[in-house]
Amino acid sequence: MSVLHPELLVAGAAGSLPVHIVLKDGPLDGLGGAATAAWAGAHEFTGKTGQLLILPGPDGAVAGALFGAGESFDPNSARALAARLPAGLWRLEGVNGTEAEAAALAFALGGYRFDRYRARPGGERSQLVAPKGMDVAAALRIAAACALAREMVDTPAADMGPLQIETIAREIASESKATIAVTEGEALLEANYPAIHAVGRAASPARQPRIIEIGWNLDRTDLPLVALVGKGVVFDSGGLNIKGGAGMRNMKKDMGGAAHALALGRLVMQSKLPVRLVVLVAAVENAISADAFRPGDVLNSRKGLTIEIGNTDAEGRLILADALCRAGEHKPDLTLDFATLTGAARIALGPDLPPLYTEDDTLADELLEAGRAVHDPLWRMPLWSGYRASIDSELADVRNDSAAWAQAGSVTAALFLQRFAPETGVWAHMDIFAWNPRARPGWPEGGAAQAIRACHAMLARRYSAAR
Ligand code: BES
Ligand code: MN
Ligand code: ZN
Repeated sequence: MSVLHPELLVAGAAGSLPVHIVLKDGPLDGLGGAATAAWAGAHEFTGKTGQLLILPGPDGAVAGALFGAGESFDPNSARALAARLPAGLWRLEGVNGTEAEAAALAFALGGYRFDRYRARPGGERSQLVAPKGMDVAAALRIAAACALAREMVDTPAADMGPLQIETIAREIASESKATIAVTEGEALLEANYPAIHAVGRAASPARQPRIIEIGWNLDRTDLPLVALVGKGVVFDSGGLNIKGGAGMRNMKKDMGGAAHALALGRLVMQSKLPVRLVVLVAAVENAISADAFRPGDVLNSRKGLTIEIGNTDAEGRLILADALCRAGEHKPDLTLDFATLTGAARIALGPDLPPLYTEDDTLADELLEAGRAVHDPLWRMPLWSGYRASIDSELADVRNDSAAWAQAGSVTAALFLQRFAPETGVWAHMDIFAWNPRARPGWPEGGAAQAIRACHAMLARRYSAAR
């Protein structure tokens, strides 16, 4: 599972057709003479955002296109071009520099298709000539990372169980000569991952819970250590506190955090960033069986803190508790975790803007700034200490479902994780949605890669510049 579409973006090819980026009510006379202006007028092309007009040549063949940029060009809008332009080789005109490069990457992201389950895969793709001087290989690595995360999320739970996640992790590790260790099933108890075991033990024998740990460059103790942690709930039924039908419908995506951690980890290794890297993925199915963990149970955790189970549907924070604790044992300089942790995150910020939690203002600023620079936004949310008491338990050290009075479910889930996060270095948590619910050309409904590009840009800036 590599999901590279190198054909989408090509360097320096001849014989391409122009896509002219046109601002709202912008001039058209330079774009092929009076005929273009007349054709545009006849089609009421005004350059409003997303408007696309194909230009014919004298022989009736496609000669070019106009693409509306509205008041100012948003490079992400070029995703739609990959889906809407007729098949052929295209180049962007009227946009330069970093904007043109961002648009070219957006084009590659927009060309993603998930047709594995279709008898007849989609038709021919359009291709884009990369702007001069662009590092096409780097852009394709980034696009492939996003495609990997999306494809893993899009794949039904029946075909994306803990074993399949492990298989992908093994492929990623071997490609970069990284080490990989997997602890599975009853061995989780022996190895002291009690919370991961408890959440995942109800699954069928072929889908036993596991923790997957990739290590890269670990002997390079001169380099900073980055840990990436992901929630890999391959299907979240809610467990015994079962979800309703609507809430369960899309829960194949509940391994989105694991997909993001693996995709970003692969990207960090392929980009050869000067870091040591640990990727930790807890892969479990939150299933229902006689052996399922129960509301009212008290779980042990790797850290030694006991956890009272108020609701078995708050399972992500349980497996992350053990995985984050394990990350801390490597004494990381920086830890990032990704998790489809709460429905409340989507209520707070909607599907497109992932909440970012960190106590470290510098890391927050770096991530937000990187997100803006690469058009992959994040929004900072507070680890509000005033709500800490909402996860106090009468019975155990902490509880997994916060008291109703605190209400802010994404915040209280982050506060829970904070209890288990590494004590060395800085830590950030992203409560991602990993899903696009609104189908548009270039943004198909389905798995969404969120914050991978922002995190990669942040890591590249933080760790390459000084060296
Ligand atoms: N995986 C869900 C969170 C989720 C739901 C993410 C919908 C994206 C869309 C998580 O395991 C969960 O069920 N969280 C509960 C926690 C509650 C029981 C304290 C939630 O958010 O409702
Ligand atoms: Mn749940
Ligand atoms: Zn979940």
